[in-house]
Amino acid sequence: MTRAQPKSTSTSNPKLAIDGGPKAFTGATGKAENKIGVEEFMSIAERFGFSKDALARLRSAVSDDDLIEGGPNLAYYACPNPRDTKGSEFARLAREIFGVKYALPTSSGTAALHAAMVATGVGPGTEVIIPACGFMATSAAAAIAGGVPVFADVDESLQLDPNAIESRLTPRTVAIAPTHHWGNVADMDPIMAVARKHKLKVIEDCAQAPGAKYKGRYVGSIGDLGCFSISCYKIIGGGEGGMVVTSNERLFERACQLAECGGLWRPDRFAPPRYEGELFVGTNYRLSELESSVNVIQMQKLDGICDRTRAVRKRICSQLKSFKEITPQKINDRDGAIGYLMRFYPKTHELSAKIVAALRAEGIGGGTQGPSPSPDWHLYTAMFPVIHKVGAIANGSPFDDPRYAARGGKVEYREGDCPVAEDLYNRAVRIGIDQWWSNEDCDAIAAGINKVLSAYCTEGTASREWA
Ligand SMILES: Cc1ncc(COP(=O)(O)O)c(C=O)c1O
Repeated sequence: MTRAQPKSTSTSNPKLAIDGGPKAFTGATGKAENKIGVEEFMSIAERFGFSKDALARLRSAVSDDDLIEGGPNLAYYACPNPRDTKGSEFARLAREIFGVKYALPTSSGTAALHAAMVATGVGPGTEVIIPACGFMATSAAAAIAGGVPVFADVDESLQLDPNAIESRLTPRTVAIAPTHHWGNVADMDPIMAVARKHKLKVIEDCAQAPGAKYKGRYVGSIGDLGCFSISCYKIIGGGEGGMVVTSNERLFERACQLAECGGLWRPDRFAPPRYEGELFVGTNYRLSELESSVNVIQMQKLDGICDRTRAVRKRICSQLKSFKEITPQKINDRDGAIGYLMRFYPKTHELSAKIVAALRAEGIGGGTQGPSPSPDWHLYTAMFPVIHKVGAIANGSPFDDPRYAARGGKVEYREGDCPVAEDLYNRAVRIGIDQWWSNEDCDAIAAGINKVLSAYCTEGTASREWA
């Protein structure tokens, strides 16, 4: 007699699902909640500055059920089609507006500069020419890339003096990084000429001048790479953000590799390098979708902001008289600049201080640094971490890197290295320009400036017209 075979059950002798048996788990019965839902949205709305009433109305209008399945994912690469993200829209707008082939959104202007420095080959044993007036982020970016910043003086535009570059060049120089600051533009033609003559790359720092133009071209599109800060402190930007633009594919790819080392930007992220220098250790400087969402709107406002600022400045300047003791700041492109700080140089610090006090009494905001200014990271003498040569890790700074010494490099930063910058930056009187001033406001402010200058100075031909 044969023994009866026990019946196959899921508990005693389960048939594997792979052999046609029942599945062990046929799907979750627990109810999932969105990772990100209405509460997060309300938190953004709260941070955005909506009033309590508006917040209550928003909360009553939306529920988690209104969200797409799974809720939002606010990362650039999480989107099934990254081309549909706010980040890619932001990049597309930048390409269209600035007339460049490539744009890379980054988490900050400093990140953009770091990526651009690395892209151009700044590294241990190299030097980068940087204007004595600007912001510390430019020289810091050169240093965190492993290079050594070398300051060159400015001229009466307070921008990099093209004639001050060559005396600073060494066999170690790989790039020049002019800053277009306070909405004004550096004199790019002669800067590019020096760069091309010496086969150097040009990284334009446009953090303070997005939308400004030089001879009809947007700043950032003239050099090899343009870097922008799109932060709340700048002409456009709501929080933190940045952007690298270029028309050079190789430089773009190297900037991408530094800013997104996971290689998600590559056609095949795991493919071996297609050329020398394509793949290297980078970091993650991706811009968040939340910032990009704000920035696609901000970007579309850029030209309007620039046009209004130009119009206000021109209306005021067209009414200003000339005075023997006053030299207006040199403006390298009168039609392209969007200088939102008007500057002029009285003959002495004493005169600057008197003018500022009188302007303020007239209701016109003005300022001057003075002969003993408080530290200001816009002038190289106060960029302490750089001029004191302090790296992030012990013995790890580019200044004392043996590869720098081996190439004959030895940098010292001393007061007096860039005397024009030190003199003009501190002696200048600055007056903020507001894009929203009406014609009436402009006329009253111009009259106020004339009133004050007439009281302390002698009318006559100045060395330069107001612009
Ligand atoms: C000229 C210049 N470059 C770079 C930066 C750095 O930008 P971010 O603050 O976005 O890193 C700034 C910011 O103030 C700047 O003014």
